[in-house]
Amino acid sequence: MNDNIETKNLRLIFIGAGNIAQSIVKGLLNCSYLNSKQIFVYAPTERNSQIFRDLGCHFTTNVQNVISFETTESNLHFLLFICVKPNIAKQSEFLSMFNEILLKKSNENFLIVSVMAGITLEWIESNLTIENRSNFRDNLVRIMPNTAIEINMGTIGVYWKSSKSSTTNDLLIKKLSELLNQLGKSIKLDNEEQLHSIIGVAGSGIAFILTMIQGMIDGGVSVGLSRNLSRDLVIQTFIGAAKMIEKTGTNPIQLRENVCSPAGTTIAGVEILEQNALNGTIIQAVKKSAERSKELSK
Ligand SMILES: NC(=O)c1ccc[n+]([C@@H]2O[C@H](COP(=O)([O-])OP(=O)(O)OC[C@H]3O[C@@H](n4cnc5c(N)ncnc54)[C@H](OP(=O)(O)O)[C@@H]3O)[C@@H](O)[C@H]2O)c1
Repeated sequence: MNDNIETKNLRLIFIGAGNIAQSIVKGLLNCSYLNSKQIFVYAPTERNSQIFRDLGCHFTTNVQNVISFETTESNLHFLLFICVKPNIAKQSEFLSMFNEILLKKSNENFLIVSVMAGITLEWIESNLTIENRSNFRDNLVRIMPNTAIEINMGTIGVYWKSSKSSTTNDLLIKKLSELLNQLGKSIKLDNEEQLHSIIGVAGSGIAFILTMIQGMIDGGVSVGLSRNLSRDLVIQTFIGAAKMIEKTGTNPIQLRENVCSPAGTTIAGVEILEQNALNGTIIQAVKKSAERSKELSK
């Protein structure tokens, strides 16, 4: 057996065609990692069909088409992305459809990649009706991306149970990691609980950063800049700050101290941030988001 899966032999099936499925597909096509014809998307309605058809992907509202997709070639490897809301995944109609796909595809090399927040691998495994479902444990992976994957700048937490994996699964996991790294930075987590933290810092966290960016843009406008100019300046300032931390390895507070000259302009602004407990507020936001993720997984 080859010690690599060729990208041309990959097939991606998406169950759900919403925001996150679109972000993953657009990110992968942006960087030409694979061909759009290798992607098959299923959703119950045509609501998002045109988006995928315009991208050149297969789209269907008929689950039988998913089952019959590429059944003739033997050397293919399938990644089955579950991109539906957790409440949908818990419905019996969804579970029977999902199990039907698995039953028909179980002879093929495949991984199930769940993007759903708050749905554990144990829950997925316990809802497989397929015979010998414990054999499927090694085929289950959870990922937690944020929407920046669409521009290949995402943050993606990845977790799978490393038990008695077969060589084929090892190769598929390696291939999945390669694929996810096209979408940004993927980080293998040691335990599933860490996915809650990833949601707080990156999945939902991107929305906290966007809120700060909005505040800075509004600040620029309030001191007389045009909105466009303020926007450009703020974007570059955020990129510059993040890159400085990354490239120098210096912690953010040290970098902040470096620009706070005595009785200067920066410390005057920092004082306002501290008076309003910005740091503590952000910590609370991250904690709340991670807690909410835990609540949803119960
Ligand atoms: N959005 C994010 O930033 C983000 C980040 C990380 C993880 N996630 C996770 O990704 C998952 C999807 O989120 P989303 O934002 O992409 O949701 P979304 O935009 O609402 O899309 C949900 C998709 O599920 C489809 N769907 C509904 N019922 C279905 C069924 N019975 N069978 C198959 N598909 C069905 C919908 O079909 P129609 O198109 O026909 O309505 C829609 O395409 C969630 O579990 C969420 O936790 C999201």
